[in-house]
Amino acid sequence: MNWNVIKSLLAILVFSFVLVSCDDENEDDMTEVSLYSRLGGTEMVDDPANPGTMIETGYLNLRSVVDSAIFVIAADPVLQPYFQTLLTEVGNGNLTGFSALSMGLTNFFAVATGAENFSYNGLNMVAAHDPSQNPRMNGRSDNAAYDAFVADVGTALGQNGVTDQELISDLVALLETLREDVVQR
Ligand code: HEM
Repeated sequence: MNWNVIKSLLAILVFSFVLVSCDDENEDDMTEVSLYSRLGGTEMVDDPANPGTMIETGYLNLRSVVDSAIFVIAADPVLQPYFQTLLTEVGNGNLTGFSALSMGLTNFFAVATGAENFSYNGLNMVAAHDPSQNPRMNGRSDNAAYDAFVADVGTALGQNGVTDQELISDLVALLETLREDVVQR
């Protein structure tokens, strides 16, 4: 082999290596996209609930899903007993607990999906679902109630136009990581 052939072969080798490295970087970038970004991320839009203010698209989408989910849960006979305190308040026209839960759940999901501009200051998931630490939790959850909760969140995603199956299954997988903390009987 003469020197030119060796140089050409080396050049091809280096070029292939660069191509493979770029490909790897792209794959890494793909896996680093947070669930929050896939839900709309930080792009600012008008907040339909608060005219004149802007809101991150990801947070708005999560809040819409959470609010729908609370209504689906409120109509679900498997879950109604656990939410008796909240349902009684709402029945009496008192929306204080509903608003607090909407914000708490939205902040929780925002942080859990990777939002950077929000924080969750509520109870941790064990305490929130232990009636002795959170009297608003009317009974300890079993697996069947947890399954119903996940299904109801799925319904709420559908009601809000989230149809991307991969996104839905990644969100369900995130919910599944909390089953052990929430199910307490
Ligand atoms: C992945 C699943 C779940 C998540 C992420 C979740 C999250 C939360 C959060 C963030 C709160 C508010 C805590 C606070 O006030 O500091 C909460 C409250 C509550 N959760 Fe869950 N939860 C889940 C599943 C469930 C299930 C399966 C049940 C019922 C069996 C349930 C029943 C409740 C009740 C009754 C409250 C109190 C509501 C109120 O303030 O009136 N949750 N949950």
